[in-house]
Amino acid sequence: MIKFTIITLFREAVEPYLKSSMMWKATEKGLAEFDFVNLRDFGLGPHKSVDDTPYGGGDGMLLRCEPVFAAVESIKAKDPKAKVILPTPVGEVWNQEKAKRLAEGRLFATAEPPQGEYPQPAKDYHYIILCPHYEGYDERIISIVDYKISLGKYVLTGGELAALIIIDSVVRLIPGVLGGEQSALIESFSDGDNLEYPQYTRPENFRGMTVPEVLLSGNHGEIAKWRERHSGLAK
Ligand code: ADE
Repeated sequence: MIKFTIITLFREAVEPYLKSSMMWKATEKGLAEFDFVNLRDFGLGPHKSVDDTPYGGGDGMLLRCEPVFAAVESIKAKDPKAKVILPTPVGEVWNQEKAKRLAEGRLFATAEPPQGEYPQPAKDYHYIILCPHYEGYDERIISIVDYKISLGKYVLTGGELAALIIIDSVVRLIPGVLGGEQSALIESFSDGDNLEYPQYTRPENFRGMTVPEVLLSGNHGEIAKWRERHSGLAK
């Protein structure tokens, strides 16, 4: 079971996606769980304020430390092992290998395993995704973050979309989520090995565009070679 607790001011922006399609199926099958914490609940003063202007001047507002620390601490009080992820454009750039490691609970492993002793991933992992909003966050928030993740060299208005992309890319790797897999080995599909080459379904001929002959041949060896030749996903 993998659990994500999303700390956000905009639950309504995130929840519909997690209640649809594969993410929903993952929860139905008991393979994933999604929970929300409203940062506003930890806001300061009568207005439940969570942000303030930057010292030294500059545009925009920054997330304050107090509400963020209080929100994270409220989750960790129940589950001290939960790890905190911060989507931020200055994080490590996300990729398939990292998604796989997160799905296996290995993202935060600090040391290489001793030879021959491959660690069994923990059965349950809990990731807290802290979604910043506004122009940014007080840098001291980093002190409670285990992993900063960037989706690429562009800036989004908040962490919600990034959180969804991280969650989606991880949850689909959990054996049993996509359905039909015999193998519990994440390796077998983590490379996107059924996505990286072009695929076709019926009809064989659509407006003059035909399916490559080899895919109709039933010759699995040749099909495998064709797929290998046409693989495009960068490793
Ligand atoms: N928040 C804003 N921009 C982001 C990005 N590129 N990746 C992750 N989180 C972000």
